[in-house]
Parts: sequence; structure tokens; C-alpha cells
Amino acid sequence: MRIIVCESAEEVALRAAIESIEYLGEALSTQSSGKSENPEASCVLGLATGSTPLGLYREWIERYRAEEISFRNVTSFNLDEYCGIPPSDPQSYHSFMHENLFRHIDIDPAKAHIPVTDCDDLSQSGERYEAMIEEAGGIDLQILGIGSDGHIGFNEPGSSFSSPTRVKTLTKRTREDNARFFPSVDHVPRTALTMGLGTIMSARAILLLATGKGKAKAIRDTVEGPITAMVPASILQFHPYATVILDAAAASELALIDYYVDAERNRQS
Ligand code: F6R
Repeated sequence: MRIIVCESAEEVALRAAIESIEYLGEALSTQSSGKSENPEASCVLGLATGSTPLGLYREWIERYRAEEISFRNVTSFNLDEYCGIPPSDPQSYHSFMHENLFRHIDIDPAKAHIPVTDCDDLSQSGERYEAMIEEAGGIDLQILGIGSDGHIGFNEPGSSFSSPTRVKTLTKRTREDNARFFPSVDHVPRTALTMGLGTIMSARAILLLATGKGKAKAIRDTVEGPITAMVPASILQFHPYATVILDAAAASELALIDYYVDAERNRQS
């Protein structure tokens, strides 16, 4: 794992924008037609909701407005969607993505995918989502936040490391953490359709972002703890190309923080 420690949440957003744009390269070029033979002229992005990626999305939007990047050759797949609320609900992740990213950029709405939960058969919907990801060629770069209990997507502690997209029950802690977006904790849905840990691990590269003291323990357990289903994000230790970008508060419990800072300094020089 590559660990980048920043001073502030704003710097996390900036670094995440720089890393993602550099990694996706030509796929975000404003010049590329996307029709060329070059497979690098398009890409598949995995996206997250929640507070953490908002700064990154603002950075992308700013660069799009400045005509530095374009999303017209991007296909995207979001990690998750709540069950039991329609896509039109202001608290749905469909609404979240529209409000905070999609309506501000030139992504083709038909290529911006979010798990479908307003249907009769949720397990079939999960299977279809997996098939769509595969048909698109797999995820090139997956953006992740992390729950205070170490979840990624809505893969709560105890999730199978090889899980595909399926329905998960949210823990009490996750529902309490997310209650800030709802009138009360009782309004937070109890289940969600989420990419599995297997789906996430299939992404070619991963960018995990975390800010604030509330994430410090989950980050320590993810980066330096044993790999265990009790801390779902710890499976990222197995990923060959996982980068973790943290602010000082989220990095504050890392035992090897000085080493990570030193390693990053050497990398830059
Ligand atoms: C969101 C998601 C979740 C969040 C996590 C952190 O699509 O899958 O794993 O990334 O709950 O949420 P925030 O960023 O609001 O602290």
C-alpha cells in the first residue's frame, strides 16, 4: 500500500485529484475522441458517495470547467445504493451523485451506473450489475471512503472477502454515522445493494480517502492491522495497486507514520 499523509482535508482532495487524473491519463483528455483504437482513450471509474469524496468531486468539476479534463469517455459504477428508497429520494445515492458530480460534468448519463434497488429482485439486480462491470471491461480506478467500522462500500465487518454485488444489512453504527443525512436514525435504510469486496478487489487500482479523527482507528486497523473480515478494508493490503490518502487526523494512529512520510518524500524526489 502507498500511504500519502496530507495536512488537511483540502490537501487530500487536491492530491486525490492529481493522482486520479495522472493515473487515468488520456481517458480524461479533452482532445480524445474516444473512438480511436487506443483503449487508453476511455476508462471505467468506480465512484463512492458520502462526505469524504466531495472535495475530490469539487476538484474534478473545477478542472472540467477549466477545460483541463473531460468525462465524455468515462463509464462509471457507483459502489452502492440504499434499498427501500426510490432513486428520486433526495437521500438516495442516485440523487447524491447527480447533485454533487454528474450534473456538473459531461459524463454520458447512460454510462453513469448506480446499483438499482427499486426493483422486485435485488439479487438479480446485483448479478446484472456485476455483468455490466465485466462488459465494460472492469474498473480501472475505484474511489473509496471508509466507515468508522472499517467498511468499504457497505461491506460491513464479517463480509466475505470474495463477495460480489449483493444486499447487505447495515450495522447500527453505520446507520448512526449516516443519520446526519436523514431526519433521524430511524429514517436510515436498514439494507443496501453494494459492490462486494471481491468486486472492489478486481479494480485495477484503488484510491482510498479518509479524513478526520473519527477514521483514525479504522485506518490504523486497515493499514497496519491483521487482514481480517472484522475490518473489511484490511483486504486492501492484498491489492497490488492501492493508494491511501489521509489527512493528519485520520493518519494520527499509524505506528509507522514517519516511515510513510519519508517513503513518499523519496518517491517525489
Ligand atoms: C459510500 C460508501 C461508504 C462510505 C463510508 C464513509 O458509497 O460506500 O463506504 O465511503 O461510509 O462515508 P463518509 O465519507 O460519509 O464518512
